Amino acid sequence: MQLTDEMVELAKGHSEICTIYNDEYVLLKKQMPVDDAHLDEYIRLMEKAQERGINLARIVDFRLLDERCDTYGGRKFSQGIYLEERAPGECINDEAIWLKPDKDYDYEEIAKRYLHNVISYITELEKRAKASDEVYDKLVKDYLGLESVGLEADPKPSNFFFSESKGYTIIDPIPLARKGKMKEAIVGEIWLVIFGFGLKPLMVGYSNYHFLPEDLNAKLVSYGNAIAAKVKRALIKNGVDEDLVNQEIAKNQWRYIVDNQPTEVVDLGIRIAVTLQEVAKNEQKQVSHSCFFD
Ligand SMILES: Nc1ncnc2c1ncn2[C@@H]1O[C@H](COP(=O)(O)OP(=O)(O)OP(=O)(O)O)[C@@H](O)[C@H]1O
Ligand SMILES: [Mg+2]
Repeated sequence: MQLTDEMVELAKGHSEICTIYNDEYVLLKKQMPVDDAHLDEYIRLMEKAQERGINLARIVDFRLLDERCDTYGGRKFSQGIYLEERAPGECINDEAIWLKPDKDYDYEEIAKRYLHNVISYITELEKRAKASDEVYDKLVKDYLGLESVGLEADPKPSNFFFSESKGYTIIDPIPLARKGKMKEAIVGEIWLVIFGFGLKPLMVGYSNYHFLPEDLNAKLVSYGNAIAAKVKRALIKNGVDEDLVNQEIAKNQWRYIVDNQPTEVVDLGIRIAVTLQEVAKNEQKQVSHSCFFD
């Protein structure tokens, strides 16, 4: 597969970094994490990683755009159009809703949006919780294995995809900067890879609120604990110290064990909470056949 003029124009005309081209490929409009002189080498390392069995979406062709480039310390970083294999599945969705305390809102609409976010987060975790121990072992092996080709994962939730059939796929790796330190790094970073920044609350001013209906809360905790147990086994199997794993599990539980009470009682938060309870009750009635409310 090669880039065509038509693909380049398609990507250039799109406001986002990523244009989905088809089921197998995406077009990216971005600067890579290496300068132009090291781009071919970077792409070769991605190929090498894939040849070693690492689940990594690789770049198959590119064209640099002369009109846009930055120079840092005499090194040139051009924006380019990249044809890259499409990573299957989804990144974790952890969108927050931000409200101003002094504004009036349509509380039913806010409550519905919040519930929608919560449900999509929990649905994604459910899939991740059902994946086998082998899937988590592979994620840990791939994360650590990048070092052998001179790369490392960039631990942002947007750089990891999960699909039920393919497991976890890494995109957008960076040149290896932490040689010999990845076992120490992964134990703290893997939670971000899988859970993202956690279930995002309703932000009212600077206060955050979680108003999770009880049944959803129970599912969140159960999927979170199931994933943590699999990650723990995978990390230990791959040589990470058990005490360190336990410490990190405790530190990262906030991503799936939320305090269901307002952290601070303000009027707006309470009104949203009340509306949410009503919306949740109604949705329960309407979608009682769905996996969430049965
Ligand atoms: N191979 C791919 N398959 C599917 N989606 C992709 C792929 N590459 C990029 N994307 C989508 O485009 C987004 C941005 O791509 P990428 O991570 O390469 O750029 P970035 O400049 O590092 O941006 P970000 O800071 O969001 O990670 C990704 O988070 C993802 O949603
Ligand atoms: Mg990225």
